[in-house]
Amino acid sequence: MLQTSIEAKIETMLRQKIGLDAASIGSNTIARSINQRLTLCGLSDLTAYWHRLQTSPQEVEALIEAVVVPETWFFRDRAPFVCLSQFVRTQWKQPLLRVLSAPCSTGEEPYSIAITLLESGLTSAQFRIDAIDISQQALQKAKRATYTKKSFRGGISIDQRYFQAVKDGVEVRLWVRDAVHFKQGNLLDTALLNHQYHIIFCRNLLIYLDQTARNQVLKSLDRALMPSGLLFVGAAETSQITAPYVSMRHPSAFAYQKHDLATPRPAQIVEKPTPQIALQPAPEPPRPLSLDQAKQLADRGHLIEAANLTEAYLINDRSNAQAYLLLGEIYQELNDLDRAERSFQRALYLNPSFYEALIHLALLKEQQGDIITATLLRARIQRILNL
Ligand SMILES: C[S@@+](CC[C@H](N)C(=O)[O-])C[C@H]1O[C@@H](n2cnc3c(N)ncnc32)[C@H](O)[C@@H]1O
Repeated sequence: MLQTSIEAKIETMLRQKIGLDAASIGSNTIARSINQRLTLCGLSDLTAYWHRLQTSPQEVEALIEAVVVPETWFFRDRAPFVCLSQFVRTQWKQPLLRVLSAPCSTGEEPYSIAITLLESGLTSAQFRIDAIDISQQALQKAKRATYTKKSFRGGISIDQRYFQAVKDGVEVRLWVRDAVHFKQGNLLDTALLNHQYHIIFCRNLLIYLDQTARNQVLKSLDRALMPSGLLFVGAAETSQITAPYVSMRHPSAFAYQKHDLATPRPAQIVEKPTPQIALQPAPEPPRPLSLDQAKQLADRGHLIEAANLTEAYLINDRSNAQAYLLLGEIYQELNDLDRAERSFQRALYLNPSFYEALIHLALLKEQQGDIITATLLRARIQRILNL
C-alpha cells in the first residue's frame, strides 16, 4: 500500500507526541487506524482529517488511543515477578517500598506486582504502587479491575484471596486495588515523574518507540529510580540498558540494578564477559528429570546446575523447543553467547514461529552488533504478530 504524504505527516505527529516508531507496528496498521478515525468523525478524505487533527486535541487523543498497543496479562513472563519476590524477601529492609509500573496498560501488571509483594510477606501498608499509562481507555479498564480469561493467559491460577468472581469475569479484590494508584500521563513528558522509586517496571513500551524517545524515557526513569533501585524491562528491550545498570542475572527477568556510584561496585555483580563455561557431564542428575527443576534452579541463580540439568533433559527429549529456549536463556545469563545462540537457533529449527526464541535471538544479535540479522529477525517477529 502506497503511503500518502498526509499519512506520513500523521506518523511524524505521532512520533513527536508519543515517540511512536511507525515501523514497530507497521505503516499499514497506522493507516487502518487513521481510516477508522476518519470514518468515525464522518469525514470523507485525509485532508479534512489532517485539518481536524490540527484543530482538535480530543481527536489527537482519540487517534493515540487507536494506535497504542495495550496488550498485557497477569504475571506476564513470570520470571520478573519471581525476581521481584526474591529481592523483597532477601534484600528489602526499609519501611515503605515504592514501585512504578509505567506503562501499566489495563492494570494486569501493577496488580501482579501488588500480589507478588503481598505473597512475599509485605502488608499493603508497606508498599505503594504508582501506575501510569497514556491511554485513558486502558486506565478505565484498569480501575474497573474486572478481567476475563484473556488476561490470565500466562496460565496462573486465580487465587481467591486476591480475586473474586463477578458476573462478567473476575475482579481484583478491593484491598489489592487500594495498593495501586493510577494516573494518566505521557512518559515523554519530562515533568511526569515527580517521585522517587525503589523499583520501576517499564516493560514493552521501548520496543514501540524511536531511539530519541527511548533515550528520553530512559532518562526520566533513571531520574526517578533511587540508587540501587531495580529496573525491569521487556525481553526485547534489554539492549537499551547500559551502565550504570547491571543485570540481576535472573534468567528471563530482564531486571537491572542501578549501580550506586557512591559505593564501590560489589565484585559479584560486575558484568564482564564470562569465560566459556566448560560443562561437566551432569553429576548424576536427579531423576526423573524435569524442565521445572531446571527452571527452579535457574530462578534461584544456580545457572550452571540449571544448564547441566537442561542439557541432560534434552538427551531424552531432543525435539523440545521450550527446553532449548530455557537453555538459551541460561547460557545468555552466563554470558556464553555462542551456546545461547545455538540453543535459540535449535528452538527455532523445531518451531519456526517460536515468538520468545525469535525475540531472544534478535536481542542477542543486536548485542553482538549484527544489526542486519537482528532486523531480519524483527521482521519475522512482526509477521508473526500480524498473523
Ligand atoms: C504493550 S503495553 C505494555 C503493558 C505492560 N507494561 C506489559 O508489559 O504488559 C504498552 C502500553 O504503553 C502505553 N504507551 C504507549 N506510549 C506511551 C507513552 N508515550 N507514555 C505512556 N504510555 C504509553 C500504551 O497505552 C499501552 O498501554
